Amino acid sequence: MSNGNSREITTSQLGIHDKLDELVKKYQQSENKRPISAHTQQAYDEVDSWLDGFNGEIILDSCCGVGESTANLAKAYPEARVIGIDKSALRVDKHEHYRAQSDNYRVVRADVNDFWRLVRQSDWHVSQHFLLYPNPYPKKTQVQKRWHASAAMVDLMAITPHIEVRSNWLIYVLEFAQAAKHYGALSNLSEVTGETHMTPFERKYRASGQVCWKLRCLSEED
Ligand SMILES: C[S@@+](CC[C@H](N)C(=O)[O-])C[C@H]1O[C@@H](n2cnc3c(N)ncnc32)[C@H](O)[C@@H]1O
Repeated sequence: MSNGNSREITTSQLGIHDKLDELVKKYQQSENKRPISAHTQQAYDEVDSWLDGFNGEIILDSCCGVGESTANLAKAYPEARVIGIDKSALRVDKHEHYRAQSDNYRVVRADVNDFWRLVRQSDWHVSQHFLLYPNPYPKKTQVQKRWHASAAMVDLMAITPHIEVRSNWLIYVLEFAQAAKHYGALSNLSEVTGETHMTPFERKYRASGQVCWKLRCLSEED
């Protein structure tokens, strides 16, 4: 039985956006000249010195909100270093509440538009990248605010093709899969099942009876 009160996404966009391929190709061919914000550079530098040249697996949890999933991932992958990134100070500051026993992760306040660019230029070995319930921007006119149709997709795809995207809006993950194909990535789509929830948004949506979707991207060589 569902007992949540989260509203389902309503939109006039009923399928993959007709401009998606055009937008993805446009950004693939252009150079991102956006300056890196000082606060994100500082957050990156702090994480980089915490990593201290670590050359094992690094897992990114982008748009991690309060970082519950970051702590869960750190527990699930004790040999890895896990980094949760969110631009909201309010959410990141709430993280203490979720802090797990493990010390193999950090949750930082930064803008992923810039953080991804810095990671792309780094020598970090990112093995997996989680993007859990990114803001969907479901209005048709908002398409370029979705990660896969934005300039940031180029950096996102350059970090690792092993990306997991979750959303309660099927079109979001279908679009992501189509955009990722332009970068040679394949993907598998499935429904999120089971009793455990990876993030607070997932818990909220599923408690309201909504279906949550999981897209796992991989490279053609996998
Ligand atoms: C719908 S919430 C999902 C949070 C969390 N992943 C969850 O499932 O509970 C989306 C999150 O994306 C973050 N976000 C949006 N744009 C961002 C950006 N440019 N850089 C970093 N975080 C961002 C927001 O602050 C918000 O916490």
